[in-house]
Amino acid sequence: MLSDSPSGKVAGGAVTGDVPHSVPMLSLDNVFSAEELSKWVTGLERNLGREVTAWCVEPKLDGMAVAARYRAGRLHQLLTRGDGLAGEDISHAADAVLGLPAALAEPVDVELRGEVLLTHEQFGHANRLRAEHGATPFAHPRSGTAGTLRAKDRPYRVELTFYAYGAVGLDEDLGHSALLERLAALGANTAATTPAHPRRCATPEDVQRRIEEIAALRASLPFGIDGVVVKADSAADQRDAGTGSRAPRWAVARKLAAEHKVTRLLDVEWNVGRTGIIAPRAVLEPVEIDGVIVTYATLHNPADITRRDLRIGDQVFVYRAGDVIPRVEAPLVDQRTGEERPIAFPEACPRCGDAVDTGEQRWRCTRGRDCQAVASVVYAAGRDQLDIEGLGRTRAVQLVEAGLVTDIADLFTLTRDQLLALERMGDTSTDNLLAAIGTARSRPLARVFCALGVRGTGRTMSRRIAAHFGSMAAVRAADAETLAAVDGIGAEKARVIVAELADLAPLLDKLAAQDVGTAVTEPLARAAAADAAADAVAGENAVGGDGEARPAGAGPLTGQAVVVTGSMTGPLAALSRNEMNELVERAGGKASSAVSGRTTLLVAGEKAGSKRAKAETLGIPILTPDEFADRVAAYLP
Ligand code: IVH
Repeated sequence: MLSDSPSGKVAGGAVTGDVPHSVPMLSLDNVFSAEELSKWVTGLERNLGREVTAWCVEPKLDGMAVAARYRAGRLHQLLTRGDGLAGEDISHAADAVLGLPAALAEPVDVELRGEVLLTHEQFGHANRLRAEHGATPFAHPRSGTAGTLRAKDRPYRVELTFYAYGAVGLDEDLGHSALLERLAALGANTAATTPAHPRRCATPEDVQRRIEEIAALRASLPFGIDGVVVKADSAADQRDAGTGSRAPRWAVARKLAAEHKVTRLLDVEWNVGRTGIIAPRAVLEPVEIDGVIVTYATLHNPADITRRDLRIGDQVFVYRAGDVIPRVEAPLVDQRTGEERPIAFPEACPRCGDAVDTGEQRWRCTRGRDCQAVASVVYAAGRDQLDIEGLGRTRAVQLVEAGLVTDIADLFTLTRDQLLALERMGDTSTDNLLAAIGTARSRPLARVFCALGVRGTGRTMSRRIAAHFGSMAAVRAADAETLAAVDGIGAEKARVIVAELADLAPLLDKLAAQDVGTAVTEPLARAAAADAAADAVAGENAVGGDGEARPAGAGPLTGQAVVVTGSMTGPLAALSRNEMNELVERAGGKASSAVSGRTTLLVAGEKAGSKRAKAETLGIPILTPDEFADRVAAYLP
């Protein structure tokens, strides 16, 4: 028989059909917790009628089991596990398997058993190679290993790694840890070369500790593991415990939670980073991976999406290990229903609307870092923020490109001469813009805060924060706990806001120097605290009903929870929804967007739909825009 191995690593030859194993290749029983493991130990020791002499604890490598037959120290045949009784001859693949020497250090007849896998590095390399050859990427290392071991006649070479964890035909009396040392001395690779190396443990407590150590190392290991294997170390204990039909009774796998899960790709979002990189992010049907609910995962870049042929609606493999950001690895092509849709790539920058530079793998906004400036100026100048008429995207681009504006504070130092020097800026438009900026200077805190574009805060939240604190200085001084007292801000959002404000400190200083956002009003926080103190003095229950901030000043809407719906008419026709909400709050009420049992008044304009119906069902008073305008006449802008 001729060798099938291109470089002759395998000295024997390949046969077709399944090859019987010399000794069955067994599986392992599983336990899923420390308690189950402890029960398993008790059971084993009961069967033995004595304590286990010592244990060996080692990683459960997530690859494919193989048997490597050596004759007189030379690699003769490589087999898969198959059904455990007979396996497939994969000798052709032996050359590509690192850690599986062509010749051992001694001329022994032995069958090494162990796991072949793709390390993370080999996996990445394999997928790059496959991309270059127009092949779809491997979904994950295990399927990549299986595919690579079986493949013949590939035009490229994918390297794999072998780790030995057993042998047939060596000194029967060697304990497991001694056997591993012997295998390493013969030249085979073992997990001893990794941080998760096998450890001999004296007691079940030591075993548990080592399991926890290996589990903690998981994310930093160079390969995937799906558990930790616990083995009775001594040959005598193994012999006496014996072997079941499926698995040995002296070893068990303590399984760790899966790092890969399959879920559905619902959407792809495109986010623009600080430098203008436009990065795709997968929105997933929430899936629990190792105790964490994953709803978003990174997708690398458009080319990668194309290469993987990902589609919206696909079932995808999602990988998450330790603190690593979850990532989408591959679609399950054979699970497609035909309903999947292609992923739309952005034609314009999703942040500033400018052109996209698609020249590199990672797409970018052509404005690079300036994209952020343009987008933040456009947003800040918007109607519900600083409301600077005449400052749209084109103007913002012009100002940023001329180097006059890098952030929104720079708007307030623009001079007439600077503006006149710009193209298409005549006297009138310059004066109008300067006037609009002048008006914007005195916008109330809620508007200025909203203009900052702090993550997690929109118009409503900005109004609440402004009302709660009364001044930008007080907002800036607030820690997460204080911020979390604002209605609707949880602990998590509070932390984000604190971090964002810290990042924005230089901008906030610049704005303060321009006297923008420095107006001070009576904060609700203090009013509420004072009320509570007064209540306490009066001996009443100082804990406020639902903990919501109450309006500072009295007005026609004091104590009212107001929802506005439909289109406004009459004196309210020109007001945006945000301006309506501001009006409600000026008049002493609390504005919200959804009708609930707590709503006390609905302002329903034309084309009011489900909110009106719900208010009617709940018996909530409903006013037309005109009736409402009458009631708050004194507070109209
Ligand atoms: S010992 C006679 N040790 O796990 C005992 N197996 O679920 C048989 N595996 O088919 C296996 N790492 O492919 C053993 N350190 C390790 C292992 C390991 C991974 C795999 C092996 C086996 C499967 C059983």
